[in-house]
Amino acid sequence: MMHLSIRTKLTLTIALVYASVFFLLLLAGAASLYIGLQDQMDSQLKESRNIIIELYETEYQSLPAANSDEGDQLVNDLRGDLKEIHGHEYQYVALIVNKESEPLIIEEGRIENSVFRQGENFQLQKTGLYNRRLQNRLYRFLVTALPWGTIVIAEEYHLLFEIAEEFREILLVGLPLTLALVLFGGYFLAGRAMRPVARTAEAAEKITMTNLSERLPGYRGKDEFGQLVTTLNYMIDRLEGGIKKVQQFSQDAAHELRTPLTIMRGELELAYQNQDNSDETQAVLQRSLDHAISMSKIVEDLMLLASSDTGDYPIQKSTFRIDSLLKDIIDDLNVLVNEKPIEIKLPHCDEVTFKGDRQLIQRLLFNLADNAAKHTEHGFIEFQLHKSERLIDITIEDSGEGIPESDLPHIFDRFYRVDKARAGGGSGLGLSICKWIVELHHGTITMQSQPEEGTTVHITFPVHNLS
Ligand SMILES: Nc1ncnc2c1ncn2[C@@H]1O[C@H](COP(=O)(O)OP(=O)(O)O)[C@@H](O)[C@H]1O
Ligand SMILES: [Mg+2]
Repeated sequence: MMHLSIRTKLTLTIALVYASVFFLLLLAGAASLYIGLQDQMDSQLKESRNIIIELYETEYQSLPAANSDEGDQLVNDLRGDLKEIHGHEYQYVALIVNKESEPLIIEEGRIENSVFRQGENFQLQKTGLYNRRLQNRLYRFLVTALPWGTIVIAEEYHLLFEIAEEFREILLVGLPLTLALVLFGGYFLAGRAMRPVARTAEAAEKITMTNLSERLPGYRGKDEFGQLVTTLNYMIDRLEGGIKKVQQFSQDAAHELRTPLTIMRGELELAYQNQDNSDETQAVLQRSLDHAISMSKIVEDLMLLASSDTGDYPIQKSTFRIDSLLKDIIDDLNVLVNEKPIEIKLPHCDEVTFKGDRQLIQRLLFNLADNAAKHTEHGFIEFQLHKSERLIDITIEDSGEGIPESDLPHIFDRFYRVDKARAGGGSGLGLSICKWIVELHHGTITMQSQPEEGTTVHITFPVHNLS
C-alpha cells in the first residue's frame, strides 16, 4: 500500500463516491429514457397500423375480388397512400392481402425491401411487437394479422444510439469537468479539515521535558479532534504534575541529606583530632571523612541539578573577565597535578569580558579542568580562549586516557561514568552540570576523544554573552 496522506485519501474517496453516484444516476436516467422512448415508438407504430387498417377497410375492401385491371389500379392507389404515410427513411411497411390464388404484397418505405423479404413469409410471422436483427441492423416490428391480411410495420431501432447521443455530452464534458471540480474542491476542503492536525502535530513536537508547561494550541471545534486535543492537554497536565512532583522530591531529598551530612562531617573531624586514637581508628576515621566529603559534594551537585530542573536556581548575572577566571583555575590546577609529569599550557587567551553567572562559569571551568587532571597521567593539558566577532570559544585538551567511542554519547548523562568500578572517582554528575551551565548561557558543549590519546572539550558561547 502506498503511503498517501489523509488529505489525498479523503479527496480520492470523495471523488470515487461522486463518480459512482454520477454513473448510477446516468444509468437510471438512461433506463427511464429507454423505456419512455420505446413506449413512444410502439404507440407510433400502433397508430400507423390503425391508420392503415382504417384506410384499407374504407377504401380498398374490394381489392381481393377485383379483376386484374381494376386490381392494378387499386394497388397503385394503395401504394401511393402507403408512401404518404410511410415514406420515411427508416420505416418499412407491408400490406399482405389474402387472395385466393396467392397473397398480394404491397410494400413501401426507403429501407431496402428485399431485406425484409429475404426468406420471410410474413403470414407465418409471429404477430405482435418484437425486435429483430436483419443484416446487422436492429428493427422493431409490429405485425398484425387481420381476417383480410397481415400488416407489417418496421422501424429501424436506433434507440440506443439516441440515448448514447443524449448522454454523450454529459459523459464527455460533464463528467471530466465536474470530477475535476470535485477533486479540486475535495483536496482544498480536506486540506482545511486536516490543517488543525498538522498544526497540533507541530506544536506537540515542541513540547519536551523542559517545557511541559506548553500546551497544544486551542482548537475550538467541539468535534472528535477537539476532544483529542483536550484529552492530550489533560495528559500533558498530568505529566507535568507528575514530573514536578519527582523534581520536588529530588530537591527535598538532597536538601534533607545536607544537614545530617554536615553534622556527620563535623563530628568525624572532631573525633579525628582526638590524640588518644589508635592508628587503626585514625585510618578508619580518615576514610569515613573522605566518604562524607564526597557525599556532601554529590548532595551539593544534586541540589544544583534539582534546582535547575524546577527552574528554581537563582541565576546571578554579572560582568567579569572570563580570561582571568580561567587563569585562576589554571593556577589551582598546577597545584592539583603537581606530582604528575603534566605540562599545563595556555597558548592563546583573548581578553573577554563576559556577562553571566560567575559562580556557575567558574564551576564549569573547574569541572572540566578537574576531569582533565583526573584522567591524565602524563603529557599536557592545554587551554585556549578565543574571542571572535560572533563567538567565544573555549577549548580544553588533554593527553589522557580518553573515552571509548561507545561511552561518548552518554558522557553528559547524569551519574554516567566510564569506569564505574574505579574507586576515588566522582559521581558522574560533573559533566551534566557543565552542560546545564553552558545551555543556561545559550552555548554549546561538545566532547571529542581518542582512547589512549586524549580528550578535547569544546565550548562556544554566542556573542551576546559579551558585554
Ligand atoms: N578529560 C577526560 N578524559 C577522560 N575521561 C573523561 C574526561 N572527562 C570526563 N571523563 C569521563 O566521563 C565521566 C563523567 O565525567 P563527570 O560527569 O565529570 O563525572 P565525574 O567526574 O564525577 O566522574 C568520567 O567518569 C570519566 O570517565
Ligand atoms: Mg568530573
